[in-house]
Amino acid sequence: MDGTTLLSDYAPYPFTLDTVALTFRLAPRATRVQARLSLTPQAPGTALHLDGEDLRLIGAAIDGTPLTPADYLLTETGLTIHPAALPEGSFTLETEVEIAPEGNTALEGLYMSNGMYCTQCEAEGFRKITFYPDRPDVMAPFHVRIEGDFPVLLSNGNPVAQGPGWAEWDDPWPKPAYLFALVAGDLVATSGSFTTASGREVALNIWVRPGDQDRCDFALGALQRSMAWDERAYGREYDLDIFNIVAVDDFNMGAMENKGLNIFNSKLVLASPETATDTDYERIEAVIAHEYFHNWTGNRITCRDWFQLCLKEGLTVFRDQSFTADMRAGAVKRIEDVAALRARQFREDQGPLAHPPRPDHYREINNFYTPTVYEKGAEVVGMLKTLVGDAGYRAALDLYFDRHDGQACTIEDWIKVFEDSSGRDLGQFKRWYTDAGTPRLSVTEDFSDGTYTLEFTQETKPTPGQPEKPARHIPIAVGLLSPNGDEVLPTTVLEMTEATQRFTFPGLASRPVPSILRGFSAPVVLDRATTPAEQAFLLAHDTDPFNRWEAGRTLARQTLMAMTQGAAPQAEYLDAVGRLIADEGAEPAFRALCLRLPGEDEIAQALHEAGQIPDPQAIHAARGRLMDALATRHGAALAAIYEAMAVPGPYAPDAAPAGQRALRLAALHLLGRTDGGERAQALFARADNMTETMGALAVLVAAGQATEALAQFRARWADNRLVMDKWFMTQAALCPPEEAAELAQQLAADPLFDWKNPNRFRALLGGFAANHAGFHRADGAGYRFFADWLIRLDPLNPQTAARMSTAFETWARYDAGRQALIRAELARIAAQPGLSRDLSEMTARLLG
Ligand code: TRP
Ligand code: ZN
Repeated sequence: MDGTTLLSDYAPYPFTLDTVALTFRLAPRATRVQARLSLTPQAPGTALHLDGEDLRLIGAAIDGTPLTPADYLLTETGLTIHPAALPEGSFTLETEVEIAPEGNTALEGLYMSNGMYCTQCEAEGFRKITFYPDRPDVMAPFHVRIEGDFPVLLSNGNPVAQGPGWAEWDDPWPKPAYLFALVAGDLVATSGSFTTASGREVALNIWVRPGDQDRCDFALGALQRSMAWDERAYGREYDLDIFNIVAVDDFNMGAMENKGLNIFNSKLVLASPETATDTDYERIEAVIAHEYFHNWTGNRITCRDWFQLCLKEGLTVFRDQSFTADMRAGAVKRIEDVAALRARQFREDQGPLAHPPRPDHYREINNFYTPTVYEKGAEVVGMLKTLVGDAGYRAALDLYFDRHDGQACTIEDWIKVFEDSSGRDLGQFKRWYTDAGTPRLSVTEDFSDGTYTLEFTQETKPTPGQPEKPARHIPIAVGLLSPNGDEVLPTTVLEMTEATQRFTFPGLASRPVPSILRGFSAPVVLDRATTPAEQAFLLAHDTDPFNRWEAGRTLARQTLMAMTQGAAPQAEYLDAVGRLIADEGAEPAFRALCLRLPGEDEIAQALHEAGQIPDPQAIHAARGRLMDALATRHGAALAAIYEAMAVPGPYAPDAAPAGQRALRLAALHLLGRTDGGERAQALFARADNMTETMGALAVLVAAGQATEALAQFRARWADNRLVMDKWFMTQAALCPPEEAAELAQQLAADPLFDWKNPNRFRALLGGFAANHAGFHRADGAGYRFFADWLIRLDPLNPQTAARMSTAFETWARYDAGRQALIRAELARIAAQPGLSRDLSEMTARLLG
C-alpha cells in the first residue's frame, strides 16, 4: 500500500547468492558495470527479482545464454526474470549496465566529488550501481575489478592484483551490498600499521586529495587507538590485511563503514590545530572509532532488514561513546552525550516525527537515520548493561559474536542473547525498542521512623500511531546523601516495572537528600518537586558527577523558564555558579559544562513540556539577561579564570588542555557581555588555534561586533572548504536574531555558498535553524527562506533536503500564528510537483 514497507511483511529472499564478481569501466557519463552473480533457487518456480534504479540495461545472460525481452520485466525499480527463464539448480546471471556518476547529485550510488569517483550504498544505493538483491540479509563474498585511469583504485577486502589503469580486490567476508565501496582518484595516503593481538599485521591508510595530507595524522592515530580498544574492551580483532579510509568533500552524512574501505566526510578526517577545533578533534576520534567498530557490529553481524537498523547503530554508538569515555574524561563525555540526547532525541520524541528505535513501517529508510535510532538506541544498550552488570554485559556480547557471526540479525536475536546469558526475562524491557516516546518519571518521597520511601510513577504520552503506552522496565540508579553531605547510600539500581512503584530504605538516622537517575541511567524526563536550595546542595555535594551537573542544569533551566515570564535571575543559581567557579578541585572541562547555559531550543522544549507556549524572543532575551547577571555578579572570578586557563606551549588536542580551553572560552562567553568585546577582539587577533579563534569569533558575532573579524577570517580561509563552513555556520547560528533572516539571505548570495555541497548547505541552513529566535521570527520570514531552500535542494539531493526538514519538527510547541505559518510552508513544500519520496514522507509526517 502507498509505497510503505512494513516490518510484518518480511520474507526471506528466495535465492541464495553464492558469489559476486563485478567489473567497473569508469567514465564520467557512461560507466559500464558488469555483474556476475552465482545464485541458487531456494523455492523452485519463483521469479528472480533484482532491484535497480537509473540503470541502462546493456545486456543480461543466464549461464552464458543471452536473455530476450520476453524473459524478463524491466521497470523503474528493477528487473524481474520470469521463472520459466531460470534453471532449476544453481546458475550464473551476468548483467551489464551503464550509469552516469557525473550527473549523480544525490550522492547515493556511484558519484563524483572533485574529480574522484566514490560510492555511498547504505541504505539502498547499490541498486543505482547494478541490478542486485539490494537487501541486507543477502550476503556474499565479492570480487571487484576496476578499470580507470587513476593512480589509486580501491574497493573492499584485500588487493589481489593490479596494473596500470586497473586493480582487482577480493573481499572474502560475505557482506550485504550496502557495505560495497569503490574509490578511484588522484589520492595520497598517510600510512601506518597495526599488529593485532594474534600477530596479524594490518596496513592502514588515510587517503585524501593532494594538499590535505598534512591533516591526517590525528585520524590515523585515532584508528590505531580504536583497533587496540576493541581488542581490549570487546575481544574483537580486525580481519583483513588492509584498512583504508578515504576522505571526500561531498558526502550526505558523517561517514560510512564499508568493509575494509571506510568513506568519510572530509570534515571528520582532516584536522590541524589551525583549522580544527577541540570539538572537531573529539568528533573525528569518535567517528573513526564508530566506523571501525562497525566491522564487528554491523558488518560481521549485520541487520536482517532496515527495521533493525538500531541493532548496528545503537550498539555501535554505545561502543564509540564508551571508547571516548575511556580515552578522555568519562564523566564529561556522559554529560555531553546526555545534553545532545535531550537536544536532539527528546526533541524528536516530543513532536510529530516520534518513532521507536525499531520502527515498524517506513516509506524511505533514509529518513530513519535519526537520533532515536542512533542515540536512543545507544541508551537502550546502556540500560541493558546496567541491568546485567559489566561482567554480564561482556558475557552477553561474547555470546552475540559467537552465536551470530556471519548472520543478518534482528532485535529479537539481540535480546535473546542477553536473556540466555543472564537468565533474565527481558520481555518487558523490549518495549524500549518497540515503543516511541520519552517516559516521564515523577517522584514523591516520605520519611518516617527512620525509613525513607521513594514512590515513582511513569507515564508516556501517546505518539503517532501508538496511543497506548504500557509501563516499561526502567533502571533507576539512586544514591542518598545525609544533610551534612555524606553519602549514606552509594549508587544502587532500582528496577521499576510497574506504572507506580515504591522503594524503601530503612535504618536512616535522618531524612536524606536523594540523588536520582545517577549517570542518567534511563532516557526519561525526571519530574521532581525540589527546592532551589536542594539543587544547590546536590551541585555542591553529589558524588555522582552527572547528577552534580544535572542539579546545576535544573537550576539554570528553572530560572530561565521563570525569567521568560519576567522574573529576576534566581539568587540560589547565581550563588551556586559562584561556588562552582571557585571549586578548583573540579575538572576544568566539568566546570566549563556547568557554566554553559541550556540552549534556547532546550528552554522552548522545557516550556512546552510544562504546558506553556514558548516565546522565542522572550527566551532569547531571558538567556541574555541571565548571562549579564552572571557576568556582573562574578566578573572578577571569571576574569581570573580567563587568565588562569590560558594554555601555554604548543596546541595539543588532548582532553586536559581542551578542558582548560573550554573553561576559558566559557568564561569569555560571559565576560563578553560586559567587557565591550575587548577580550574577544584581543584573543581573535592573537589566537594560533581554531578553537580559540572560533570561541572569540562566536562572542563577537553574538555581540554584533564581528564585521572586521569576519572579513579577516574570510580573507585568510577562503580556499579551505571546511574552515569556511564554520564561517557560514557561526554567523547564521549566533548573529542577533533580528538580523538573522536578512543575514542568511545575504550569505546565500555569497559566491562561496556552494549549496550543492551538503556541508556548506548544512552550515548555512542548519546554522540558521539553530538561531532559535531568528528562525522563529513572528512574521514567518525565517520559515519561508528555509522552505525555499529545501524546495531548491530536493530535486538534486533529496536525502539531505529531507534530513534538514526536521528544523520544522517543533511546530506544535509554538503559538497559533507560528503554527499556521510553519504548516503553510510544509504544505507548500508538499505540493511541489515531483517532490522526492524522501521529502514527501517527511512533510506528511510533519503535518501529522
Ligand atoms: N552507517 C553510517 C554510520 O555509521 C551512516 C551513513 C553514512 C548513512 N552515510 C549514509 C546512512 C548515507 C544513510 C545514507 O553511521
Ligand atoms: Zn553507524
